[in-house]
Amino acid sequence: MRFSTSSAEALEILSAEPFDVIVSDLRMPQMDGAQLLAEVKRLHPQVVRIILSGQVEQETTFKSVQLAHQSLSKPCDVDILKHTLNKLFGLRNLLVDESIKRIVSQIETLPSLPAIYTEVINELHAADPSVKKIGDIIATDLAMTAKILQVVNSAFFGLVRKISDPKEAVMLLGTETIKALVLSVKIFSEFNQKKYTWFNFDELFNHSMSVSMFAQTISKEERLDQYLVNNALMAGMFHDLGKLILVTNFQEAYQKILIVAQHEGQHLWELENDQFGTSHAEIGAYLMGLWGLDYPVIEAIAYHHCPGKSLAASTGLLTAVHFGDAYDRLKMTEDSAGKLKQLDRGYLDNLGVGHRLDDWQMVCQNLAERKV
Ligand SMILES: [Fe+2]
Ligand SMILES: [Fe+2]
Repeated sequence: MRFSTSSAEALEILSAEPFDVIVSDLRMPQMDGAQLLAEVKRLHPQVVRIILSGQVEQETTFKSVQLAHQSLSKPCDVDILKHTLNKLFGLRNLLVDESIKRIVSQIETLPSLPAIYTEVINELHAADPSVKKIGDIIATDLAMTAKILQVVNSAFFGLVRKISDPKEAVMLLGTETIKALVLSVKIFSEFNQKKYTWFNFDELFNHSMSVSMFAQTISKEERLDQYLVNNALMAGMFHDLGKLILVTNFQEAYQKILIVAQHEGQHLWELENDQFGTSHAEIGAYLMGLWGLDYPVIEAIAYHHCPGKSLAASTGLLTAVHFGDAYDRLKMTEDSAGKLKQLDRGYLDNLGVGHRLDDWQMVCQNLAERKV
C-alpha cells in the first residue's frame, strides 16, 4: 500500500508502478477527488476506483459516483473497505477469466459503442445541453427514430397521446430514458440480421425492455439512489446482451444449446457454461465493461442469474434486474407454474428483502398490465 497527501502525488505514484486499486478522498485542495478519478480513469483505466465521501456537497458526490467503481461513506470501517475490495476483485477476476478471454478472442466483431450514442452523451455533458439538439441527433437516424417512437408509444410508458417527434420524446421521458433507448435500439438493430432466422431478436428485445422497466420500478420502490434508478433501464436493457454475441458468433453450437434448453428445461446459462466455460451474463458484462459503463450496471449484468456469487451486501441494480428477469419469465414457457423459480431466495433473504417479493410482484404486474 502507498499513501499520498495530494492528488498530484497520487498520480505520480500511479505512473511509477502498476496498482490494482485507488481509494481517494473527495474533498482535497487543488485537484479534488472527482478530478483525480477522472484522470485515473483516463491514464490508468485498469485501476479500480473507490471514493470516500462525507454527507456534504451532493453535486460533487454525484459526479464522483459516476467516476468511481464504488463509493463509501466516511468514516469508513476497515471491514467494509475489505469487503468492498473483495467484491470488486471478484468481478474483476470474473471479467478477466480465461474462458471469457478465449471466447472473446474468437469473436469476429466485438461491437463498439455506436457513434450516435456517443454524440448523445457528448450533448448531455455539454455546458448547456439542449433537448432540441438531442432530438436532432436522434432524427438523423431514420430507422432508429422509428423504432424509438414505436417503443415510446407502447403502453409501457403510459403516455396519453401519440408522440411523433424525437424532441418530444426526450422532453416527456427525460434524457436518461432516451439515452438507454438510443443505445439499445441501435445495438439490437446492428445484431438483428436476417441470416439468423433461428433466433427471435424481437422477443429478446421485448424481454429486455420489460426487464428494464421492472428493474426501474423496483429500484424506485426500494428508494435506491437516483443514480441507480437512472441506470436501471440500462442494466435491464443489456442484461442478456451476451446472448446476441453468442448467437452471431457461435451459431451452430448456440443453436443446439437453445434447443436443449427449450426441450429439456435446463437453465440456458448452465448449458452455456458447459459448452463455453462462461455464460451470456459474463460475456455481456465484459462488453459493457469495455464500453466503460458504470460498475453497478456491469455487476447487475454479470450476476443476474446467480446474484449470490456477487457478495453484494445491499439491495441494488443487481437485485432489481434479478427479480425483473425472473418475473418476466412468468409469461414465458420457462416458468409457467408462476412460482418465480429462477429467484435466488437465499440471496434475497440475506439482503433482508425476502418479504418484499409480493410487493415487487404486484408493482411489476401493474406495469405489465398497463402494457397489455
Ligand atoms: Fe440472462
Ligand atoms: Fe433475461
